[in-house]
Amino acid sequence: MSDAMSTKQQLLIHLKGGKGTWVSGESLAHKMAISRSAIWKHIRTLKENGYVIESSRKKGYLLRHASDFLLADEILEGLNTNVFGKSGIVYFGETDSTNVRAKFLASDGAPEGTLIVAESQTRGRGRRGRSWFSPPGEGITTSIILRPPISPNEAPKLTLMASVAVAETLLSMTSLNVNIKWPNDILVNGRKIAGILTEISTEMDRIDYVVIGVGVNVNTPHENLPPDIRNTATSVLMETGKPFPRIVLLRAYLEWLEIYYETFTTKGFDPVMKRWKHLSDIIGRRIRVDLIDRVRIGEVMDADKDGFLILRDDEGTIERIISGDVTILGGEV
Ligand code: BTN
Repeated sequence: MSDAMSTKQQLLIHLKGGKGTWVSGESLAHKMAISRSAIWKHIRTLKENGYVIESSRKKGYLLRHASDFLLADEILEGLNTNVFGKSGIVYFGETDSTNVRAKFLASDGAPEGTLIVAESQTRGRGRRGRSWFSPPGEGITTSIILRPPISPNEAPKLTLMASVAVAETLLSMTSLNVNIKWPNDILVNGRKIAGILTEISTEMDRIDYVVIGVGVNVNTPHENLPPDIRNTATSVLMETGKPFPRIVLLRAYLEWLEIYYETFTTKGFDPVMKRWKHLSDIIGRRIRVDLIDRVRIGEVMDADKDGFLILRDDEGTIERIISGDVTILGGEV
């Protein structure tokens, strides 16, 4: 066993190795060359970290459930990525906003693929200065640091890419009817289940870093939603009637995100855009878009190769729109 592995990690490996059977304190102490009371102290810490462990004077310890906390060791177990999450995971029981933390880490030089996760956020940020509801242990609130070799004007594509990755995650892990509302809302049956907030730092004409923050409502019951989003938001639990292990979803998201990021950076944006168009239900719709300084109403003709919406208003004027708040006004036009 490597020296770098912490005692807690070693202990977990032995407990997991018991595969649902009791492991005696004596054998653990022997294998790990520490005292039985040290074992007991580490067990107590593991329990505080959400592991369900039974203890018996005679039989020792039995791991009933691994933790559902989004702990680095649990995320890494079976994570099938090359870089994402493997470059480092920073875990917070509670923090202000994982995007804010990610930006500090990125400015300090954290490498591409560094993941920040939190059980809850006190100032979770949404788009356009809104807040993001992030109650403890119910959802996924995570940010990843990227250092993409693309020019700053291509950065909006990363938001579309992330929305495809989140949609693929939910589609592959659940039977939900998922679609993407441009640019970055993930909907199930017309209600928002996940959102994405991309933030970017540039230097002259190159990107220093990009932070992609994703919030997914996983195990939030309807009654826990704040009143202002009760009619517009949903969760995996609300849609399927069953809780879902957040860690499984988080791993799948990292895997999908890496697949699409590799595709984007090696083959270009077209394959990502193709999938986005398939998953989005906006083309051909009549919409209202609230831009920062004005409102536009019209029909969505297409989304172009850069991810801009091509909107034709009632006078026939065509406009490319990069970002805004979309309301779908009716059926197909
Ligand atoms: C939106 O739809 O308005 C975007 C919501 C993005 C929320 C996530 S949760 C993790 C990350 N940290 C934040 O403060 N915001 C993003």
